Amino acid sequence: MRLILLGAPGSGKGTQSQKLIERYGVPQISTGDLLRDACNRGSPLGLKAKAAMAAGKLVDNAIVLGIIRERLAEPDARGGFILDGFPRNRVQADALGALLAEIKAPIDAVVLMDIDTNVLFRRLTGRRVCPKCKRVYNIYSDALGDPPRCTNCPERTLLVQRPDDREDVIGNRLKVYAAETQPLIEYYAEQGLLRHVDAEGSVDDVFARIERAITGGAKSGT
Ligand code: AP5
Repeated sequence: MRLILLGAPGSGKGTQSQKLIERYGVPQISTGDLLRDACNRGSPLGLKAKAAMAAGKLVDNAIVLGIIRERLAEPDARGGFILDGFPRNRVQADALGALLAEIKAPIDAVVLMDIDTNVLFRRLTGRRVCPKCKRVYNIYSDALGDPPRCTNCPERTLLVQRPDDREDVIGNRLKVYAAETQPLIEYYAEQGLLRHVDAEGSVDDVFARIERAITGGAKSGT
């Protein structure tokens, strides 16, 4: 299965990717995670990406496309993948299309995670991440204690907030999504690949809708 998860920041792409990995055994390829790793390692690429990420802007296409090309060439991506957070603009979408045509591995479906902006704000401001095991939580829906701690690590590591989940940066990320990424909805609809999914409700309910949308081939998974 080769899938793109398209949706605004906080729409649940990362959360649903974890469930898709369990169900279909294909890797999640998240450009956000790959870029955050590069920043944390302090690599030259990470240093270039850091300022754009902190401001909620898109990282330079050349950097992101380089990362994606390398990641898609890894052996575990041969049997399929879930693209989370990529592509994010027309240049990236065209480059992905050309790359996949070259290796004869076309995309099966693009899942659009539909969600109200007010719900996004709550999800993003409430998100907390374990710096050790990387598990993602939400202070509004998970019992985490005060201060919130990881329930997965034996050391109960203190959870942290992503720097771009501050309210002032969230607004910018949503603007960038509307200007740069939303046009891809039309782009993939024209190719007959788009599947709309209502991304509100419980994680399991959203997952069931995604499964219906990708296995039934329906144009709407709501
Ligand atoms: P990235 O890491 O990709 O962030 P994003 O797309 O903004 O998406 P998020 O990770 O914020 O949200 P999500 O949809 O995965 O939601 P999640 O499942 O975590 O990108 C970060 C930055 O990197 C960008 O701003 C940019 O600078 C750069 N970048 C990345 N890719 C790039 C590219 N291709 N080109 C250029 N630059 C790029 O859920 C959010 C919260 O909600 C969590 O707390 C979760 O527990 C909770 N939640 C999830 N589902 C539910 C549910 N059903 N009910 C209740 N709570 C839920």
